[in-house]
Amino acid sequence: MNENPTSDSGRTWIGWALFAIGLIAVFGLGIMFASIMDRRGESRDSYAATQRVEIDALEIDPSKWATNWPREYGSYREMTDDTTHTKYGGAFPRDYLEETPANVVLFAGYGFSKEYRQARGHVYTVEDVTTTKRNSSTTPATCWTCKSGIVVVKMAEYGRKRMPDAERASLQEAALAGAGDFYANKFDDFRGKIDHPIGCLDCHDPGTMTLRIARPAIVEAFQRQGKDINDVSHQEMRTLVCAQCHVEYYFKGEGKYLTFPWDEGTTPEAMESYYDKFDFADWTHAISKTPMLKMQHPDYEVYTTGIHAYRNVACADCHMPYKTECGVKYSDHHLQSPLLNIENSCQVCHRWGEDEIRLRVEGIQDKVREGRSRAERAVALAHFDIAACIEIGASGAELEPLRKLVRQAQMRWDYVAANNGMGFHSPAECLRILNASVELAQECRIESARVLAAHGYAKPVRYPEFGSKEAAQTMIAQFVNDSPPSLLAR
Ligand code: HEC
Ligand code: HEC
Ligand code: HEC
Ligand code: HEC
Repeated sequence: MNENPTSDSGRTWIGWALFAIGLIAVFGLGIMFASIMDRRGESRDSYAATQRVEIDALEIDPSKWATNWPREYGSYREMTDDTTHTKYGGAFPRDYLEETPANVVLFAGYGFSKEYRQARGHVYTVEDVTTTKRNSSTTPATCWTCKSGIVVVKMAEYGRKRMPDAERASLQEAALAGAGDFYANKFDDFRGKIDHPIGCLDCHDPGTMTLRIARPAIVEAFQRQGKDINDVSHQEMRTLVCAQCHVEYYFKGEGKYLTFPWDEGTTPEAMESYYDKFDFADWTHAISKTPMLKMQHPDYEVYTTGIHAYRNVACADCHMPYKTECGVKYSDHHLQSPLLNIENSCQVCHRWGEDEIRLRVEGIQDKVREGRSRAERAVALAHFDIAACIEIGASGAELEPLRKLVRQAQMRWDYVAANNGMGFHSPAECLRILNASVELAQECRIESARVLAAHGYAKPVRYPEFGSKEAAQTMIAQFVNDSPPSLLAR
């Protein structure tokens, strides 16, 4: 009748026992799986576990890291190959002026009209920055910033002198404190003293081998937006280490302080609005006498608007894919065009054939290149139209709106042209921007025709020849030397 309280408690006891056994079983299995996962982790050349020799916290010579990480170092050294070609990329120093003489016109009066070459691998940074014709005795030390890890070490040296608590400061904190002192030097002050290109210290903390950002400009750009760069996910770090350098930047003020113009956003419109607030100009155009903006290489900014960023695929996923050697899995440190390594870079996610993937990428790039060519021709002609207005005696008030339009048009063209990958990182955004560039340039040309008409000129402008690099350079020299050819048919 009545339920026996003892037998009831007995059943409770059995229930608890079963529950406990179940718990132990689940726990045990979990530990087993965790250790399997751990092994998989170990089979990668994993961090401190396999460290053999101690690497100094400020070791900038990559060969000193090689004892511990021979595979990463070995693949890093493969960047010495500067002969690789793809349709629009590769590591060979392609001459952009030869290939696109309109570039000479677009950069008239600026170093980029003298020399402009495709980027090579990271091991060449010091050689390339010291030999380029774009440098002069007035070039600030800021130009060294994205070329070598030594820069961060020097900044930290300056920084520690300024810090009350220097001993405890991290490399990032010390570099932030000393960046201004470093930038205030001249480029030539460090010529011959910076003898290692980009190396391991640029992305890693040698103590833990974790990814680390030590360069100040990106840390500061994040801070100004209320974000902490040390507080991002591991997957984001696999992109942000690249964004230390592969971005648009400028040298702020007399101190030539390296700054990312991201406070209002990273689209060309947002950066333009930022620059316009203080009438910033990189140079004055020799043909139209317009204060111009030069875009550097906004790779990260363009990337963030593309499908792969949306799907959380990092720069390192495509440019540093995993590689397996004798059962050891490691990240390929030969940073290059992924089209030279489609199998590891793309086929891990896309089950299409190799040729199909290449054709798909080139198909996208061909379309962007077509849009880019339209924009560069329209912008180049707009500069000559303004020069024709100058020749006919147009007033400053008449010229100002024309110059504003050509400045806007060219910085949009340049945002796409200077970004690497011929639009692949975000094709729709690149085509949108080129579209805006063409429209602004043509608007400038229509307005210029009105100004010419107001001065009684109705004939076509006589555009000079710029079909080859040499012809274009000879022609723009006349504008640079203030003896421009006549563009009006009298
Ligand atoms: C989905 C894969 C993918 C991702 C993610 C990616 N890229 Fe690329 N990248 C490419 C492809 C494809 C090209 C075009 C290569 C070519 O034309 O030969 C390219 C080209 C480049 C180039 C020029 C290489 C050359 O040889 O012309 C640079 C530099 C570059 N990317 C940097 C970056 C940076 C920095 C990021 C992250 C902000 C990034 N990429 C993210 C696939 C990717
Ligand atoms: C441009 C940035 C960059 C530079 C320079 C760089 N690495 Fe890396 N390294 C990475 C990234 C990104 C990963 C992937 C890390 C991850 O996902 O945890 C990585 C991973 C590693 C790992 C972990 C194991 C593996 O292969 O995934 C080791 C070890 C390593 N790098 C060693 C080196 C050495 C040695 C050098 C210098 C010869 C070097 N790295 C230079 C970005 C860099
Ligand atoms: C410290 C600054 C710095 C960092 C960090 C950096 N780069 Fe570069 N990168 C450069 C410079 C400078 C060049 C051009 C080198 C030259 O031409 O001398 C370059 C060139 C390249 C190239 C062209 C090589 C070729 O064969 O076409 C690729 C691709 C590239 N970087 C990808 C990346 C990726 C991906 C990351 C992040 C994992 C990264 N870089 C991190 C500064 C940097
Ligand atoms: C880590 C995975 C991953 C890697 C690596 C990767 N992709 Fe993708 N890719 C994606 C995802 C996810 C999408 C978006 C698919 C979707 O949302 O429908 C995508 C989309 C694309 C698209 C379609 C773009 C569009 O506008 O619709 C192309 C083309 C593409 N990838 C090419 C490449 C190439 C080329 C490489 C190698 C350089 C590559 N992907 C590497 C994951 C990857």
